[in-house]
Amino acid sequence: MTMPTPQCPWRMQVHHIHKETPDVWTLSLLCHDYYPYRAGQYALVSIRNSADTLRAYTLSSTPGVSEYITLTVRRIDDGAGSRWLTQEVKRGDYLWLSDAQGEFTCDNEPNDKLLLLAAGCGVTPIMSMRRWLAKYRPQADVQVIFNVRSPQDVIFADEWREYPVTLVAENDATAGFASGRLSRELLSKVPDLAARTVMTCGPAPYMDWVESEVKALGVTRFFKEKFFTPVAQAATSGLKFSKLSPMKTFYAPVGSTLLEALESNKMPVNAACRAGVCGCCKTQVISGEYTVSSTMTLTEQEIAAGYVLACSCHPQGDLVLA
Ligand code: FES
Repeated sequence: MTMPTPQCPWRMQVHHIHKETPDVWTLSLLCHDYYPYRAGQYALVSIRNSADTLRAYTLSSTPGVSEYITLTVRRIDDGAGSRWLTQEVKRGDYLWLSDAQGEFTCDNEPNDKLLLLAAGCGVTPIMSMRRWLAKYRPQADVQVIFNVRSPQDVIFADEWREYPVTLVAENDATAGFASGRLSRELLSKVPDLAARTVMTCGPAPYMDWVESEVKALGVTRFFKEKFFTPVAQAATSGLKFSKLSPMKTFYAPVGSTLLEALESNKMPVNAACRAGVCGCCKTQVISGEYTVSSTMTLTEQEIAAGYVLACSCHPQGDLVLA
């Protein structure tokens, strides 16, 4: 079986698949070579072993602790990657992964007091780091608050029994769950909150709320995972984009990245890392003013020809796209 794209050079075989909740599965992968990664990082997965559909998933396993490399994936009905991984991939199949990527990790965090906050599938890097901290920094004082829709949605339910955790269920809270959502009241009960490093992962509005609340409560070291970006509604005014092939005109609010403009208008674009690292979102701009925050995977010739990484392209005015 040949490598679908040089971006995903790691071939891994599905050893087994475990159903975590009604709509979340963990795939345990065997990698025959040593695969270097850090707790909390993610990898791009080549979907259907193709060159042009890559999706980012957290490596929910923990280096030096877990027996397998694991991906924990929620099924999203219109998600090409998650549908394939959760419904079609079988034991014995091969997947192709990129190098591990991302800076959302605790292994260089000097503070021994941490608060890890997760919502839904955002628990995947949090569990990876929790195991890592237990093994390599057993002296660390680690508090975890994990928000779920209902008690049946607790991912890694058995494993959480090994660690102190506050579980919060929005619906049908049973014994062992706080009822509702993460609140200022719950945060205020965390001992020494202001002295802790807070790390959070979950839907973007949840992380934004967490950031403003913990900072208001005195936290100064705050980190969030960035690739869970909701797709915005299509705009009808603002920056204008004229696409030549296929011919189409669309709009996005001033301040949007080119990727946000494309996605909110349902224009075809691949995006995995959303951080200017993977190169998936390469797009050609024919004319218009823009700045870029990453050109990492582009050659000088491509840059000269107007190629940008859409996730790292900040339009300063109307753009014409190829
Ligand atoms: S999505 Fe990875 S570089 Fe843009």
